[in-house]
Amino acid sequence: MLKKVGTPGPPHSAPTLTRASVSESDLRELMEAIYLKYSYDFRDYSGASQKRRILHALAQFACPTVPALQAAVLKDATLFTQLLQYLTIPVSEMFRDPAFFLALRQQVVPVLQTYASLKIWIAGCSTGEEVYSLAILLREEGLLERSLIYATDINPQSLDKARQGIFPLTGIQKHTINYQKAGGTRAFSDYYIAAYNSAVFDQSLRDNVTFADHSLATDSVFSETQLVLCRNVLIYFNRSLQDRALGLFHESLSHRGFLGLGSKESIEFSGYTGHFEVLNKPMRLFRKIQRA
Ligand SMILES: C[S@@+](CC[C@H](N)C(=O)[O-])C[C@H]1O[C@@H](n2cnc3c(N)ncnc32)[C@H](O)[C@@H]1O
Repeated sequence: MLKKVGTPGPPHSAPTLTRASVSESDLRELMEAIYLKYSYDFRDYSGASQKRRILHALAQFACPTVPALQAAVLKDATLFTQLLQYLTIPVSEMFRDPAFFLALRQQVVPVLQTYASLKIWIAGCSTGEEVYSLAILLREEGLLERSLIYATDINPQSLDKARQGIFPLTGIQKHTINYQKAGGTRAFSDYYIAAYNSAVFDQSLRDNVTFADHSLATDSVFSETQLVLCRNVLIYFNRSLQDRALGLFHESLSHRGFLGLGSKESIEFSGYTGHFEVLNKPMRLFRKIQRA
């Protein structure tokens, strides 16, 4: 019987030391079993970081081996929900990499302002910090009311938090600094009310947001978007899954649409290099090339 934890420790923190070892074949079998039983497809995630997360989960669940974890997770859906918190890295920040949001404001927004209506897809939105950041930016640029935002993720617990738009007050100082560096034009405190150690964000920011369960590994596209943000997600995928996701974004984007990736992600060396032009290389902003 495995020890069950109520709320797993943050999966991004340093893994607790464990004597368990994780072989590639055990990992493959675990991911195959999870896919067959729960339809979550982690089979094409990058091995090294997946291994670290499984090691962390083994330690937290006091589980001796990967096959033991597999048997327990297959028997117990609640345990699988807990394991999902380790496999999905639900970590985010408002205006994460502020220079990215500044570039978005300066280089992409002026083009978006020429459209009468906008569709935007935020893939891998996690607990929603990125969604509220973008909504704030769009509101300040007069674009929020004409935008429809699809905010998607595979982790239902993260999506629930994202829908609520309530974030711990402990992070607010960092978020405020990020907002200012990202070119914010107001006081950040205009956008939330502090209550019981939480910052409750202005609910009207999400009026035009649809939060949805969507996997870049198994699902298809949201079509005719002018902007796709998928930041700090591809880094966890292997090359073939990165290519699948980039293919979805390319198909999703309308004529000359924009794509924003995370600071360690790129379309370079992918099968989609010739399909996007670089708008801002360090900020990982790309623009769809229209092929004849
Ligand atoms: C590190 S967070 C990034 C959150 C946010 N984009 C940011 O940059 O702050 C990675 C997110 O990707 C999501 N994710 C992982 N695999 C996914 C998949 N196959 N399809 C969609 N989202 C996925 C995870 O659930 C997690 O919320």
